[in-house]
Amino acid sequence: MTTVEVTASKCYQVEIGRGLLPLLGEKVAGLGKANKVCIVSDSNVWPLYGAAADLSLKMAGLDTCSFVFPAGEESKSGATYLELLQFLADSRLSRQDIIVALGGGVVGDLAGFAAATYLRGIRFVQVPTTLLAAVDSSVGGKTAIDLPAGKNLAGAFCQPSLVLCDLDCLDSLPEDTFRDGCAEIIKTAILFDEALFMELVRDGLGFDRERVIARCVEHKRNIVNADEYDRGQRNLLNLGHTIGHAVEALSEYGLSHGQCVAIGTAIAGRACANLGICDYGVSARIQWLLRQFGLPLYTHFSAAMLATAALSDKKRSGSTVNLIIPLAIGNCAIRPTPVEELENFIQAGL
Ligand code: GLY
Repeated sequence: MTTVEVTASKCYQVEIGRGLLPLLGEKVAGLGKANKVCIVSDSNVWPLYGAAADLSLKMAGLDTCSFVFPAGEESKSGATYLELLQFLADSRLSRQDIIVALGGGVVGDLAGFAAATYLRGIRFVQVPTTLLAAVDSSVGGKTAIDLPAGKNLAGAFCQPSLVLCDLDCLDSLPEDTFRDGCAEIIKTAILFDEALFMELVRDGLGFDRERVIARCVEHKRNIVNADEYDRGQRNLLNLGHTIGHAVEALSEYGLSHGQCVAIGTAIAGRACANLGICDYGVSARIQWLLRQFGLPLYTHFSAAMLATAALSDKKRSGSTVNLIIPLAIGNCAIRPTPVEELENFIQAGL
């Protein structure tokens, strides 16, 4: 097992290894003071791991209840959030008690936001069951729900008390979902770590899961420790996301998050090469690795459509949008770009 420690406004451990789910109860009891635990999960994950999580918590002497909602981004809504708050109140969870988020990004975001706001904040534990949640969304305390106006528009920064990443849970992932998480791993390598990039080139989908996930979590931990509230450096984690979110919205979520991040990253790389910001070799290496992992590189949406969609995203700040620019593998920069230049930038990378 590998442990990574986050020391942001709250200190907590991210534990990564096999056979951790049966230890959930012991670990949650070890956080102290809780009597009751509410497991929040979705209709895909609960049938696979719900009973094991529940049994482990009960064996540790904790009283449990569970809230299971239909799987999918549509559930990250105000309606499900209010239902969950009402369920927590009906189940009489107190301020000492704990929520366990058992699932992928949607579960973590929704359960985390409920934990951040129920009784003005109770503790929660993330148990990521997708690769994407393991390497990105379960760590760092971003919690949110979607509004009709867009993704993640209501949320809070709220760090979990523990992240328990059981690699056994990743074994049951459909291949497309696994590849989705790989897009965030490749993003991390482009941002911070040429050695990790080369390891992915060498090993492809057979990469050492514990080591690679731990490496990504360490990089994320470093950024979160430095800029928990996303006022500067944390913006780097949006590589491929500004344009990627635009593709996601325009496809009406027909393409997955990881596929859209891959397209956004490829466009950013090609644009930087064509505009003389980085060498063509950097863009070529990025595209080669994304393709190796079966991720897409192109979109049929026009630069004008993508720019309009990107500018309605919350990443806009006044008259500029922060683009994340690959300068070399392992070295990226934040470039505030006037909104009127965004379309030209995208056009250069289509
Ligand atoms: N997923 C990006 C961040 O946590 O900032």
